[in-house]
Amino acid sequence: MDYQNIYQSIYHTVVDTDSELALKNMNLPDYNPSDSQNQWKRFDELLWHDENLGLWLDISRMKINKDDFAQLTPHFENALSAMSNLENGFIANQDEKRMVGHYWLRDPELSPDNKISQSIKQELCEIETFAHSILASEQTNDAGLPFTDVLWIGIGGSGLGPLLIVKSLQKLNSGLNFHFIDNTDPIGISNTINKLSSRLATTLFVIVSKSGGTPEPQMGMDQARFALEKTGCNWASRAIAITMKNSKLDNLAVSENWLKTFDLPDWVGGRTSITGAVGLLPLALINSNINSFLSGAAQMDKLTRNTNLLANPAVLLAAAWYASGQGKGLKDMVVLPYRDSLEVFSRYLQQLVMESLGKKNDRKGRVVNQGLAVYGNKGSTDQHAYVQQLRDGIDNFFVSFIEVLQNNQLPIINGRSTGDHLSGFFQGTRLALSQNNRQSLTITLKTFNESTLGALIALFERTVGIYAELIDINAYDQPGVEAGKKAASEILLLKSEIENYLLDGKTHSIAEISNNINGSSKESIFLIARSMASNNSNIIVEGSWSSPSDIKLKYKVN
Ligand code: PA5
Repeated sequence: MDYQNIYQSIYHTVVDTDSELALKNMNLPDYNPSDSQNQWKRFDELLWHDENLGLWLDISRMKINKDDFAQLTPHFENALSAMSNLENGFIANQDEKRMVGHYWLRDPELSPDNKISQSIKQELCEIETFAHSILASEQTNDAGLPFTDVLWIGIGGSGLGPLLIVKSLQKLNSGLNFHFIDNTDPIGISNTINKLSSRLATTLFVIVSKSGGTPEPQMGMDQARFALEKTGCNWASRAIAITMKNSKLDNLAVSENWLKTFDLPDWVGGRTSITGAVGLLPLALINSNINSFLSGAAQMDKLTRNTNLLANPAVLLAAAWYASGQGKGLKDMVVLPYRDSLEVFSRYLQQLVMESLGKKNDRKGRVVNQGLAVYGNKGSTDQHAYVQQLRDGIDNFFVSFIEVLQNNQLPIINGRSTGDHLSGFFQGTRLALSQNNRQSLTITLKTFNESTLGALIALFERTVGIYAELIDINAYDQPGVEAGKKAASEILLLKSEIENYLLDGKTHSIAEISNNINGSSKESIFLIARSMASNNSNIIVEGSWSSPSDIKLKYKVN
C-alpha cells in the first residue's frame, strides 16, 4: 500500500480511500486463547503502563497485533498532528466555527491566547474561593443559615459529568448533598423537589446550560423556583448559573443579580465540559480535590500526545476500536467497571462516544452513518444479566473492563474476602469471553481517586478525538440533538393548534383535525390527543383507542 499518497485537507492531513482500505484489511489475528503461550506473548508486547498514574491498558485480547502498528503509523501521525492543531486553537469544530479547547482547562498555558489562559485560571480561583466560603459556612443563605444541599439542573453534558463526579467521588458526610433534575418528567421533578422540601431554604440551585436556551433545564428551573418562592424564600440569593456569556440564562442571572455565575466558554463542548466549572464546582462542593482531578487529566493529556504509537494509550485504544469494528462501529462497546463508584461511567462514556462519533456525514460531506454504540453498567452485577449473551450469543461487541486494584479493608467473613471475589469475577468473565473468541480490553487502576478519574476521562476524550480523525468526522458538533429539539417544538406547536381547533366545542375525527391544521400528521395528532385526554378531563373521547381512525374528540366547553 502506498502510504505516501496521503493528502492534505484544509488544515490537517486526513486518511485517503486507499489508506482507509489498508486499515480495514489489517491482518487481524484470530487469537486462540488455548494457545496460552501466544496470548502471554501478546499480553507482554501490548501491555501499556504508567507508574505515576498507576494505570495499565491491555488490548491484547482485541484483534490487533503489535506488528499492525507499523502499517498504521501514517494514519496515526495524521491523527496526532490534527489533535495538535486542535490544541493549538484551530477551528476544529468547523460546522459551528468553534475552537475545541477542553484540553486547555487542565493546562491553561496551552491555550493559543493569553486572555483565555488568564480566564481559565481566574475561573478556577473563583470556584475554589466560592466553594470554600460555602463549605466553611462563611457564605450563608439570606437567613444566615449554612447551605446543606445542591439541586443541579442541567441535561446531557451539563448533567452527566456532575452526576459522575458526585456518584464516584463523594465520601460519606463530605460536602453538600446533591440532587439532580435532568429531565422534564413531572413525576421525577416533583419527587426531587418534595425530597428537598424541608431544606429548600438552605439549597443552592445550580442551573447549567451552555446555550442557555435548552428547554429541559429551563423548565426544571421554573419548577424549582416556583417551589422555593412558594415558601417565601428568595431565588436570586440561592441561584447559580453556569452558561456562555450573554446567553439567555446569563442575561437572566445578571439582571436578577444571582448569587454567582460561572462561564462555560464557547470553545468547550457540553460533553467535554467536566474539567471546567461544570465538573469542578460539584467536585469542590463535595470537598474533593480539584487539583488532583485536573492534574490526572493533564498527565494523561501529555501521555496521549506521544508520537511513539505503542507508548500512547489513546492510540492503542483507538486502534483497537478501529480494528474491532473495521472503522465502521460494527462492534458495540460494553463498558464494565468492576466498582460501584464507576457505575455512572458507562453512561458518561455513552454520551461522550455516541454524541461525538454518531454522525451521518464525514467532513467531506459523504454519507457515512458513523458511530460506536456504548452501553454497560458494572461488574459483577452484570454477570447476572446480559453477560450470558456476551459469552454465548451474538458476537457484536467488545468489552472494556475497568478494574481497580486497591480495596478497602472489609472484614473477611466465613473465610471470604469481597475484594478477592470481585477480582476473581472480573478475571473469570474476561477469560470466559476469550474462550469463546470474544474480544475485550482492560483498563486497570491501582487506585480510584480524583486523579485517576481525571486520567480516565482524558484518555477517552483523546481516543474519541483520534478515532474521529481516522474516520474523518467532526466529533464536536451534535446536529442530531438539534434536530430532536426542533422536532419537539413542532409537536408542542401542533398541540396548541389542536387545542385551539377543538375550542369550537364540536366533535372532530383525527382526519378532520389533520385536514384543518395544514394537513399535519394524523399519527402525531393521535399521539398528542391520547396524551391530552389522559391529562385533561375537558377532552371528551368517542370511539376506541384501539381503532385510531374511529377516534373522535371534543372539548367540553362550560
Ligand atoms: O454535549 C453536548 O453538547 C450536549 O449534550 C449538551 O450538553 C446538551 O444538549 C445540553 O445543552 P446545553 O448545555 O446548551 O443546555
